[in-house]
Amino acid sequence: MSRLVIEGGRPLKGEVEISGAKNSALAIIVAAALATEGKSILENVPRGSDITTICEILKELGAEAYFDDEHKLHIDGRGLNQSRASYDLVRRMRASFYAAGLLLARLGKAEVPLPGGCAIGSRPVDFHIKGFAQMGADVVIEHGFMKAEADRLRGTQFYVNRASVGTTINLMIAASLAEGTTILENAAKEPEVVDLAIFLNGMGAKVRGAGTEVIRIEGVESLRGIEYSIIPDRIEAGTFMLAAAITGGEVRLKGVVAEHIRVPIVKFEEAGLEIVRDNNELLVKAPPRLRATDVETMPYPGFPTDLQQPFVAALSTADGTSVVRDTIFDRFRYVDELRRMGADIKTERNTAIIRGVRQLTGAPVEITDLRAGAALAIAALAAEGQTDLYGVEILDRGYEFFEDKLRSLGANIRREKID
Ligand code: EPZ
Repeated sequence: MSRLVIEGGRPLKGEVEISGAKNSALAIIVAAALATEGKSILENVPRGSDITTICEILKELGAEAYFDDEHKLHIDGRGLNQSRASYDLVRRMRASFYAAGLLLARLGKAEVPLPGGCAIGSRPVDFHIKGFAQMGADVVIEHGFMKAEADRLRGTQFYVNRASVGTTINLMIAASLAEGTTILENAAKEPEVVDLAIFLNGMGAKVRGAGTEVIRIEGVESLRGIEYSIIPDRIEAGTFMLAAAITGGEVRLKGVVAEHIRVPIVKFEEAGLEIVRDNNELLVKAPPRLRATDVETMPYPGFPTDLQQPFVAALSTADGTSVVRDTIFDRFRYVDELRRMGADIKTERNTAIIRGVRQLTGAPVEITDLRAGAALAIAALAAEGQTDLYGVEILDRGYEFFEDKLRSLGANIRREKID
């Protein structure tokens, strides 16, 4: 176990390289195991425990998954021969449920534990299961597992409730090798869904319409491995912009697709950040103090729920009162920790009312989920004194080299082992 120790009060200055997108990599790593001809080599894959977990699951199922250098991941699905994924691995990360789509498509059989809830609320997979059943799978839920079988999945027309990202991704994976055409209506439009579609089509799949609310997937007989590079992580980019914002800093982000965070940029500018686009870089200059603003999270291209928590942290020292509503998840537990640092925030149902204070103060705090960890780190960077962040292993799930990147921007941050 370890903790992050941050001494706040230093403006972040310099430049930072944005890593590959974790949520795109997780989908593409699973999809790569659909190939029965050749293997895939994935570049720009971020290192982190979520990526390690999904690779462990593929290996448990008989596929090969290994890094041959820091960010280049080899996936070979030809040896896939196990239809049951173990609870011990799947329990660690919800996206492991993508294995269900892969196993049904490749082996016609899947036994995958239902992911539990997590700190950001109950996160059922009922939409995924309904989609598999509608594609002809016989599905039974027992002993905490989904057990599904289908000689071959059949194309169907499926309405994706709540534009669910995971459901869209899981059914794209399943439909790629199905008999006939699958039409996903109200599909998620996130950049990670588009990245997956481009990867699948590179492997020989026939996916059309990704990025719009109707995706058509015409099933094919087989897929082949390819080389592919993962898109940059839009949530990491937004997180570093907010770290610069709250510390009154000036940071250049390198390797960013500005279009993927167009709405966050609009909201951050409303709050007083000066943001200049320079090809695939963003130069972010913070004002002496942010201005309060209001935001509501929405499915893409709206403001992403994964930046709700970091944004609330940055607004906790803004001038004025901000109102932030999360329409996707109930993920405000971290506010209790921010209050211990002196923030003046009230939450009711899925809304936070943030009365900006002049100064936060450092405190020992508990990280409850990945983006809460980012929010608390952002607050700690601006707080007067020392903040000890417990549960830093949660941050390691989805922010590659997090403290190294912050340290290179001038933050006073270190990781300490605790017994
Ligand atoms: C993905 O989660 C991301 N995770 C999340 O990022 C992100 O916050 C979310 O999409 C945004 O919508 C990955 O990509 C691995 P959803 P996912 O299905 O797919 C409900 C992070 O920090 N729902 O779009 O789980 C669900 O409860 C993570 O990187 C059902 O009710 O999200 C939620 O209220 C956090 N039944 C809404 O839909 C289902 O079967 C949207 O969830 C599926 C979803």
